[in-house]
Parts: sequence; structure tokens; C-alpha cells
Amino acid sequence: MPWKRRPFGGRNRARALNIADLREIARRRVPGFVFEYVEGGAEDEATLRHNREALAALRFVPQTLVDTCARSLAAPLFGRPAAAPLVIAPTGLNGMLHPDGDLALARAAAAFGIPYTLSTLSTTRLEDVAAKAGGRLWMQLYVMKNRAIAEDIMTRAAAAGYEALLLTSDANVFGSREWDKRNYSRPGRPALPAILDTLRHPRWLTSVLLRHGVPKFHNIEAFMPPGAANAVGGSTIIPRMFEPTIVWSDIEWMRRHWPGKLLVKGVLSVADAQRALDAGCDGIVLTNHGGRQLDYCVAPIEVLGEIAAAVGNRLTIVIDSGFRRGSDIAKALALGAHTVMLGRPTLYGLAADGERGVRSALDMLAVELDRVLGQLGCRSVADLRAVLLRP
Ligand SMILES: Cc1cc2nc3c(=O)[nH]c(=O)nc-3n(C[C@H](O)[C@H](O)[C@H](O)COP(=O)(O)O)c2cc1C
Repeated sequence: MPWKRRPFGGRNRARALNIADLREIARRRVPGFVFEYVEGGAEDEATLRHNREALAALRFVPQTLVDTCARSLAAPLFGRPAAAPLVIAPTGLNGMLHPDGDLALARAAAAFGIPYTLSTLSTTRLEDVAAKAGGRLWMQLYVMKNRAIAEDIMTRAAAAGYEALLLTSDANVFGSREWDKRNYSRPGRPALPAILDTLRHPRWLTSVLLRHGVPKFHNIEAFMPPGAANAVGGSTIIPRMFEPTIVWSDIEWMRRHWPGKLLVKGVLSVADAQRALDAGCDGIVLTNHGGRQLDYCVAPIEVLGEIAAAVGNRLTIVIDSGFRRGSDIAKALALGAHTVMLGRPTLYGLAADGERGVRSALDMLAVELDRVLGQLGCRSVADLRAVLLRP
């Protein structure tokens, strides 16, 4: 007898079972050009697809008949407790997805007991996130041509009590997200079809654009050329401000302005991991920017094992790009990552239902990870080892 399966097509966040369901709700809630900004990758999107394929290619070899009744996801990070091996990744323009933007993400992370990373290109001032959301905060740094911007961010983040600074090193030459660009008639100006589509999303229009005004890059507003602080179309304006001359020796300059933990986000080789160690960093983020920068790039999960073997006991290893299931997270931990960063999954939650949606994304992944631990015969994330994966 044939049977008919109905894929999730609802709008009710409470009925979403997994990150893919949240994505579906998010897709319906925001205009197409906003969803494209979140979703898209660079050029042929080969890196974007490969991130998922590389994770999917890894298979588990479970241990059976192990008592796993008292399982824990706790995963200390920089000597402090964290409720799970998760961190919310820095993403710019969050205010385009939901009026609460960065605050909703930071509050959900704080309530869950994990760090939130605020982007340089946030739509909320870093001081406001610290005052209104609290929790454990990390700051992401893009170094722009005018280096005073970076110095300002580092000084302010230190004063506001941010724990860690992530220098993003893989976007100095900005990726070409062609599908995103097609939605603009010129930088910062959505094309007519994108504008018309916006009218089909009256709730987004009212809650995001009309009630709060066009989201702005509030962190760096003071340094933006007149009229360029609007986040609509920011992905087409900001790249021109980026600085391709930043090099390893600049870590010394950063250390003069930043007393806290320092990580480089954009490492994908043992040689660069070693350089980060030699430069005095505390950690590295293995990432290809979620497929938004270099196309035809390796997936971070493919190089994790060799990098962890080389520097894993001296640097904190964070990994991201493509993580959508608890099983993906378990694979990375088994191969030596200390924690996993989430980019799009929590953004889907944000667009679907603000802070509750983000919380729901985190809960889903934690429940899945807990189940995988049990099924693999592990009681804690520290029990995850490479022998549980087929080489
Ligand atoms: C909409 C969006 C905006 C992003 N903005 C930034 C940013 O401002 N700074 C940064 O270092 N990375 C940024 N990233 C990359 C993320 O920090 C992270 O590396 C990536 O999303 C991880 O892949 P995933 O989305 O598959 O989880 C952004 C990613 C997305 C999807």
C-alpha cells in the first residue's frame, strides 16, 4: 500500500520537531530577500553544500549495553561551566530577522547557559546587549580599513565585560553571494521584485521595519559614511570597508587593546592553527563561514582531526559550518572539538519566533545530542571519542 508523508509545512513553532522545520517557518515569515541573505552561499555554493555532505558522510560505530542513565551535556569552556558544547555564532544584521534581533539571541543563550557572540555588524550596540541580555558574551571583530573602528570595539567590549574576542580572518576579501546580490538593483537598494515580495509579508513589515525603523549597524554607526548605516542591503555595502592587509603580526596590536580570551575565526589548516598558537591566541574557530566566503573550500569537519591532534591540548577548538543535528555535534566532539558554533540554526529560530524560537533551536539540538550520547553508549560529552566514528 502506498502511503503519503506530509513534510512539515506549518507556521506553528510549537509543532516544529527539528531545525529543518524551524527553517521552514522562518522561510515563510520573512521576505525572500531577507531569507536569501541568511541562507545563501558564495558563487556555486559548493562549499555550502559540502559542509552538509562532509558531516553526513561520517558514520557512527556505537558501543552497546552500557548504562547511560545519568547523561550530562555539560562542557566547560575556558575553565567555566557551559550547559552544553554550544555557542551562538556571530551573525550581522540580526535585526532584519526579528525586531528583538541580537537581544533575543543573547537572552536565549544566557537562559540556556552558553555564550552568545555578537557581530561587529550587529544591529544592537554591544553595551545594550550586555546591559539588557547579560549572560556570557563573546565579541566578533571585523577589522576595517579605518583601524580606529576595531580599537573602539575592543575597548568598549572589554569595558562591557565581554569574555572573548573572535577575530574573523576569512572575510577580508569578501565572498560573492550572487543570489543575494540579485535582489538589489544597486548596493543597498532592493530591486522592485524584492520590494513587492516584502508587501506580501505585512507582519514582518510592521514589526521589523515600521515599528522600529530600518535596522542600523549600531555598533559602528559613528564611523559609517552618512546614509550607509542602514542594515538593509548591508551585505552589499560593508564589503568595501574591509581590510585585506591584516596579518598574523596584527595579533600583537590586538593584544594591546584586548585583555580577554582571543580566538581567530577562519583557521582550516594545521599550519595556521600553529601560527595562532605561536601568536598567543587562546583558541581557534575552524570554519568556512558557513559557505559564504571561499567557494570549493574544505569542510571544517574534514580537517578537525588533524588540527585537534596538533594543537587540541593547547588551544580551545571551536568548529562551525553546517551543524544542524545533535548527531553532527557529536561527530565534531568525537573528533576533538571543544564546542560547536551555530550560525543559521539559531537564526531560523529567531525568524520563526524571536527568543522562544532561538530557545527552541537550542533545546532541539541539546535533546538530539543527549539522545545520540545514549545511543552511542556515552554518559558525557567527554566520552565521545574518534573510535565511535568509522575512519
Ligand atoms: C546571516 C549570516 C551572517 C553572518 N555574519 C557574520 C559576521 O558578521 N561575522 C562573522 O564572523 N561571521 C558571520 N557569519 C558566519 C557565522 O558566524 C558562522 O561562521 C556560520 O554561519 C556557520 O555556519 P552555519 O550557518 O552553517 O551554522 C554569518 C553567517 C550568516 C548565516
